[in-house]
Amino acid sequence: MFFKRNNKSKQEIDSHKLPQHVAFIMDGNGRWARRRGLPRTAGHNEGGKILLKTIKTCNDLGIKAMSVFAFSTENWSRPKAEVEHLMKLPNEYIDKYLPMLKDANIKMNFIGFIDDLPDDMKKNINYAIEETKANTGMIFTTAFNYGSRDEITHTAKVIAQECLDGVLIPNEITKEYFAKKLMTHDLPDVDLLVRTSGELRISNYLLWQISYSELYFTNKYWPEFTEKELKKALLEYQNRQRRYGGLKGEEK
Ligand code: FPP
Repeated sequence: MFFKRNNKSKQEIDSHKLPQHVAFIMDGNGRWARRRGLPRTAGHNEGGKILLKTIKTCNDLGIKAMSVFAFSTENWSRPKAEVEHLMKLPNEYIDKYLPMLKDANIKMNFIGFIDDLPDDMKKNINYAIEETKANTGMIFTTAFNYGSRDEITHTAKVIAQECLDGVLIPNEITKEYFAKKLMTHDLPDVDLLVRTSGELRISNYLLWQISYSELYFTNKYWPEFTEKELKKALLEYQNRQRRYGGLKGEEK
């Protein structure tokens, strides 16, 4: 008897089984550039182009929320010139792509310690949020100057202060209440987390929000993460059995 041919590559994405929220750790820009004898910053620029295509595809597919890790609280320790380049990216991104994102009905959102960023960045970020706030399509969230442990610690402080102020009692602190105080309060939990470049780490990204996410790792560098690669990740997600700690189907 012949084995059944693996038809995975021909499989189509099932629009009824899409993840609601997909998050990306866009890793490998630097290595992609180095492999080509280019400066690391060229990798970030190329990564920006792939990001735009990924946003467009996710939105066209009908995914409700897409998030990316663009600058972590730990990235400040990179060489000064690279930090300066990374800091310019949101402004460039907004200047270049905001009209297109706005027309595509995408709602721009940012998480992270935005208040600690330079004034021109804050202004641009707030402008992008304001300009797209009435949009009803995909919510696109950029994490910038973000670290999950800092986010959780900050939330704990906010809630502790509410208790001290007498507006809350400790027994009222539920998982749901805590989640509503996080920077991601408007977003559903992450269903699928994708990390490129072959690194098998979470790197302090959305630790609370990925508790039950499906994790997808690929060896491709972020600038190589084409539409075909995205669809591969989505198909893999659709072929997984999500359990949330319980049992599914025939195991019951
Ligand atoms: C990680 O690759 C990537 C980043 C730290 C930056 C990602 C930024 C973009 C894709 C540009 C778009 C930005 C915005 C603000 C929308 P790495 O530098 O760690 O690569 P390496 O691991 O190969 O060194």
